[in-house]
Amino acid sequence: MVRSWGLPLLLIALRTCFMQGQAASASHAGTLQTRDDAPSTPDFLRRSFPAVVVVGDYVYIDGGEVSQLFGGKNGSAQQPSYAVNGTLSISLKTSWTNTSVTFKQSTKAAPLLNQQAIFRDPTASGFYIWGGGTPYFGQPPPLEIWKFTADGDGGGAWAKESPRGSTIVELTRSVRASQFSSTQSKDVAYFLGGYANAQTDTSVTGDTYLALPGLMAFNMTSGELTNSSSTGLGRFGTLVGASAQYVPFGPAGILLFLGGGEAPIATTYGAWTGVDFNTLSLYDLATGKWYSQPTTGSRPTRRERFCAVGVQGPNKTYEIFLYGGVDMQASRSSDEVHVLSLPGFVFFKAPGSSTARADHGCALVGRRQLLSVGGTDGFLGFPNSLLDPDPWKNGLGVFDMSRLAWSDGYKADAAPYESPSVVSEWYSQGGAKSVAWANAEVEKLFAETAPPSNNPTGTGPPPRDPPPLDPASVNPSPSPGPNVGTIVGGVIGGLAVLVVIAVGAYWFRRSKTANGGAVEEMNNGTAELPATAETWDPSKPVSEDYWAQLDSPPPQELPGHPSTELPSSHGFSEVLSPHGHSELPART
Ligand SMILES: *[C@@H]1O[C@H](CO)[C@@H](O)[C@H](O)[C@H]1NC(C)=O
Ligand SMILES: *[C@@H]1O[C@H](CO)[C@@H](O)[C@H](O)[C@H]1NC(C)=O
Ligand SMILES: *[C@@H]1O[C@H](CO)[C@@H](O)[C@H](O)[C@H]1NC(C)=O
Ligand SMILES: *[C@@H]1O[C@H](CO)[C@@H](O)[C@H](O)[C@H]1NC(C)=O
Ligand SMILES: *[C@@H]1O[C@H](CO)[C@@H](O)[C@H](O)[C@H]1NC(C)=O
Ligand SMILES: *[C@@H]1O[C@H](CO)[C@@H](O)[C@H](O)[C@H]1NC(C)=O
Repeated sequence: MVRSWGLPLLLIALRTCFMQGQAASASHAGTLQTRDDAPSTPDFLRRSFPAVVVVGDYVYIDGGEVSQLFGGKNGSAQQPSYAVNGTLSISLKTSWTNTSVTFKQSTKAAPLLNQQAIFRDPTASGFYIWGGGTPYFGQPPPLEIWKFTADGDGGGAWAKESPRGSTIVELTRSVRASQFSSTQSKDVAYFLGGYANAQTDTSVTGDTYLALPGLMAFNMTSGELTNSSSTGLGRFGTLVGASAQYVPFGPAGILLFLGGGEAPIATTYGAWTGVDFNTLSLYDLATGKWYSQPTTGSRPTRRERFCAVGVQGPNKTYEIFLYGGVDMQASRSSDEVHVLSLPGFVFFKAPGSSTARADHGCALVGRRQLLSVGGTDGFLGFPNSLLDPDPWKNGLGVFDMSRLAWSDGYKADAAPYESPSVVSEWYSQGGAKSVAWANAEVEKLFAETAPPSNNPTGTGPPPRDPPPLDPASVNPSPSPGPNVGTIVGGVIGGLAVLVVIAVGAYWFRRSKTANGGAVEEMNNGTAELPATAETWDPSKPVSEDYWAQLDSPPPQELPGHPSTELPSSHGFSEVLSPHGHSELPART
């Protein structure tokens, strides 16, 4: 099967960074002083790995990296982006377009990380961040719980929380991960899997990327953190680059897992397999049981690092919208939007095309709009994926989830969400009767709607009338991104960004040849595709050329090592050979 995208990409990126970079920091030190966490519209190039959450009347954007033009010129090829040093917000009280939008900035005391999870506090007074990795090979910060308390006016302040109860002990046992799946109910933040490496947790050294098991739950009211078994999820209880969604079914809500890759526990680089959308893993919060439920319809191809948001329909359906990601089957970044409707477990593909991106963040805003923030096309390679100007100004896109269309901007006065017509038609034609339930228990769970989550902010202003079920969670899928986040405590000297980019390049190259399987374009609304719709054959190992596409190996040295150590003539193929990363010298 497919090796997992994320890791190879990271490696590549890292390597590239090193190769290009040692000299950069000095020569660009001056320009970096002028950087802006929210560059002017003409200067903005790309924002990658952001975490996005709605709190009150504002959508907050935290973490990640930004690249911009400096006086009309690209930044350095060695370090085209830098860690975002503050927390941004956009008002949802008034309409805006991606050119007229304005950002408010708050200073950030918390560590600067990529690919964080972000969780809205139960009282909607602010948000927590968790997990992620440092950009440019920075040393990861200690495992701490940081909270941003909003001031109600788009600003706010960061503070470290004192762990309560058993959390004091649990934190010492925990490992910070990146590319995990996260979601939340009103009270509880959930995150599962991901991988740990030297940029996420100080307990990991060298070049290892450990696939982690475990379903972590952080009760934001009590402050309790628990880690329970994820055995029952897929083959290994691990998942990377996927999306989790809290969905309001069953007596206590259900966690649904979408896409990504899996690998045996603690496996390091090179052994990850893509998870398809033919069946979805479910976790019943009432009983702690795992299930696997088949889907039908126009399923996405295998992908990771897409973004997803859920929204409550008016007629007891709950729809999840997926945008973009790294499409492993087509070997490209995706521009697609898919809708999964529950309880039908049926996928639809939105018509039309937009812009391809991965490692972006999303949120449900203004009742029925998916806001996409940032993202890059890693297939362009490093540093081009960061220097390539985002076709969307300020990296922002707004998708009308009822009309299934990208729009000119955010509408503060949008009508309440209605299921798209293809979805309503499917149900009105009796589609729900055709669901092939995994078993009677799952069928029963989805016949029941969970108590409203009272999530006050998922849809942004104006306040909506309470639907039968409130959106359980606007889930900020922590845009799983290329693994490279690094914070370096405000110091950008790192190469992490480069890594991310490198990843992109890897994919790009891979796309030129790899492949097998045409990605079928299913028609919007069709629900009769066989479960075997995907043509990509997971039983076949990724071919040598998959790895051979890469023409230069990832850098092995830590920042600070002379770049001359890296033979520039080495190809990526060495790095991504079937022998795996282990051939590469461990970093010191
Ligand atoms: C990041 O923000 C802090 C606090 O506002 C400031 O002291 C520091 O100089 C900033 N770093 C950079 C590189 O802009
Ligand atoms: C959760 O527990 C499992 C099993 O003990 C452990 O391997 C994993 O690292 C833990 N997860 C986190 C995020 O600490
Ligand atoms: C979270 O903690 C609060 C306060 O202790 C408790 O009332 C609530 O039931 C907990 N939520 C869950 C899902 O365990
Ligand atoms: C910046 O770099 C990108 C990628 O190499 C290139 O396409 C673009 O033309 C450059 N822009 C400027 C202003 O030099
Ligand atoms: C703004 O975003 C929309 C997608 O919501 C896109 O179609 C449009 O081209 C963007 N406009 C600009 C100027 O970037
Ligand atoms: C809700 O679903 C029922 C049963 O499928 C259908 O008859 C009704 O028309 C639907 N209402 C709306 C508003 O879609």
